[in-house]
Amino acid sequence: MVTIMKRIGILFRLLFLLDGGVWSLRNLSISVPRAVLSGEGQAAVLRCSYDLEGAALYSIRWYRAETEFYRFVPRELPPTMVFPLPGASVDLTQSDEHQVRIVNLNRRLSGDYQCEVSADAPLFHTDIRSAPLTVVDPPFRAPRITVSRGNYARGDVIKASCTVDEAYPAPNITWILDEHKIAETVADPVSELDFTERGASSQLEITVLETEQYRVGLTYTSNSLARAYHHEEPSKNHSVAKYTLVPPPSGQFELGCVSTILDIYARQSERVTVREDAPRPASVTGEDSAGAAPALSLTLAACACAYHVL
Ligand SMILES: *[C@@H]1O[C@H](CO)[C@@H](O)[C@H](O)[C@H]1NC(C)=O
Ligand SMILES: *[C@@H]1O[C@H](CO)[C@@H](O)[C@H](O)[C@H]1NC(C)=O
Ligand SMILES: *[C@@H]1O[C@H](CO)[C@@H](O)[C@H](O)[C@H]1NC(C)=O
Repeated sequence: MVTIMKRIGILFRLLFLLDGGVWSLRNLSISVPRAVLSGEGQAAVLRCSYDLEGAALYSIRWYRAETEFYRFVPRELPPTMVFPLPGASVDLTQSDEHQVRIVNLNRRLSGDYQCEVSADAPLFHTDIRSAPLTVVDPPFRAPRITVSRGNYARGDVIKASCTVDEAYPAPNITWILDEHKIAETVADPVSELDFTERGASSQLEITVLETEQYRVGLTYTSNSLARAYHHEEPSKNHSVAKYTLVPPPSGQFELGCVSTILDIYARQSERVTVREDAPRPASVTGEDSAGAAPALSLTLAACACAYHVL
């Protein structure tokens, strides 16, 4: 009897191979949010879609890091089985053969999630897909910025620092100069099974150009960020982003930083305004090395006059 069953089984398998998959499972895909916030009231809905091509569903199983936590078997009563998932609960009211909803997650549940689907007899064709989910513990406060000085003279170097409280995973930091993103400090990727929270910090150095450097093709009127802010050669010290700034015509610029975690968290520091020291009297006396400035102003004035005449 057993051998007959075996033969029938083999026959089915052959048929299956020959006709290219009747009763087969196709287009299995998993859809998991890349990141969710941890804690009370937060939830993640993990979805699994598939095409059984007419076959019945035997089971759908969900695993986190190879440990099964949810099973749906339509033929059983009740069809649902839940296994302990320390650090979260499965919301049974919103879990079924297409999705599982997990609530109140702890960051230790970050990792790969798998969905395994099996078609019913005779073939029990089974397939599995995996996707990562990060449970985020955001920093408690907004990032904090400090700037070495609130005023600058041409040629000065302004140092700024941005620090972010501990979080999981460690946040990235982006610098904002006026309305432009200028530099990003990318946090080291978290290693598996290390769920410790980490802070982050980033240093920025801005050198404000001397006046005479306008003459080498960098001008006030440049609207292009690339010409206005020039990234220096990458320094050996990667933790400091170095930029060169053409003195802004407004005589001031604003610095801020933003900490981000994946696509789920972004918070900005307060903005710090850095102003140019009172204009130097050089343009009046003409003695200073900044002698190019009056020439530039004169040219601009001349242009303005020409427009008036037209
Ligand atoms: C499903 O699978 C079939 C054949 O395997 C393919 O032609 C089709 O594009 C797939 N559909 C989707 C939505 O992926
Ligand atoms: C890199 O920059 C940081 C912050 O300014 C400083 O503390 C550290 O000493 C520097 N490291 C080297 C190798 O220069
Ligand atoms: C930081 O940025 C990198 C590169 O854009 C990205 O791959 C990574 O996921 C980001 N990390 C966080 C915590 O957002």
